[in-house]
Amino acid sequence: MIINNQFELNHITKIIFGAGMVENIGKETAKYGRKALIVCDEGVRKAGIVDKVTESLTGSGVDYAIYDKVLPNPRDTGVVEAAGVGSRFGADVIIGVGGGSAMDTAKAANVLMTNGGDCETWARIRKFNEAVLPVICVPTTSGTGSEVTFEAVITAVEKGMKVSISDGVKLAPRLALMDPELTLSVPPLVTASTGMDALTHALEAFTCTYSQPITDGLAMYAMEKIAGSIVTATMEGSNLKARTDMMVGSLMAGMAFTNSFLGSVHSLSERIGGFYDTPHGIANSIFLPFVTQYNMDADPEKHALVAKCLGIDIAGLSQIDASERGVEKIFELNELLGIPKFKDVKGVDSNDFPKISESCVTHACTKANPRKIDAEGYLMLLNKAYDY
Ligand SMILES: [Fe+2]
Repeated sequence: MIINNQFELNHITKIIFGAGMVENIGKETAKYGRKALIVCDEGVRKAGIVDKVTESLTGSGVDYAIYDKVLPNPRDTGVVEAAGVGSRFGADVIIGVGGGSAMDTAKAANVLMTNGGDCETWARIRKFNEAVLPVICVPTTSGTGSEVTFEAVITAVEKGMKVSISDGVKLAPRLALMDPELTLSVPPLVTASTGMDALTHALEAFTCTYSQPITDGLAMYAMEKIAGSIVTATMEGSNLKARTDMMVGSLMAGMAFTNSFLGSVHSLSERIGGFYDTPHGIANSIFLPFVTQYNMDADPEKHALVAKCLGIDIAGLSQIDASERGVEKIFELNELLGIPKFKDVKGVDSNDFPKISESCVTHACTKANPRKIDAEGYLMLLNKAYDY
């Protein structure tokens, strides 16, 4: 069983969690600054969530400017725009309100506002010259875990590739204000796909070669919570118990993977996202069962535990049989949740697969995958998912 008994664990972010907690954003923000740049997308703004934030900020005497043009798979061009709004306003604190795209844009804009330069440069250097501003995250989906992670994943438009900006723990948000009520209106497919992203974080953090005891504990609890609530949260959006469990699960999965690592599901999904602009959660959902099936022989003990965390009674089963049941469960979840098939995803062309396979090999997560994989292995997984 893969487990490292020499490890580091960092956790920087203060977490305030609970239904209705968004009301406290003003008084909490005032502890960090007086001029807030709010980074969000138009949907979150139209849903009235940004109004809740601004009302509370005004009540606490915090001035604000809003950048609301964040797109899915957030682009470096959007980061430049957000940083421009923040710099012209003279922001001294940044609030990311939304899913991972808004939170990652907020984090990356922070680097550009304080250090200048561009996303590609900072993704390559991974060492900032100047101190960054405090970032507060208010997630409105249960998925990315960006509210506690140390990086910002941004699409470099000209390269057609996602890059990751980070410098140790410097990009960790100072505060994650987590209010499950904000997720009640998230539509079913977004709930399902972002939730499967969170499940992927937990499963890959648990099985990858960097896994360690503390992140294993976080990841196992996260898998249980997510597997136990994702279908209800998707089918009955207004179920606050299911929404709360999903938010706890995605938070703990984020804490786990930012201190452990991820694996080949993320290598594939980030390359696919850069290539076809496929939503991150959809791409992860598609590849999670195939990669898990490929990996399970490398560590049957851990993959049997994955099955247990997914709710399967593994008593009496061999580790391999239990692992196989876990894979079946992931296929079942995708079916129940209405996750599209790979061949039906917009733009996907199997002629691109050799090129995508090659680029997956150089993705950072590949080195942490529990089973060794090369371009041929990735090509096999892409074809398998395409033919499914
Ligand atoms: Fe992810």
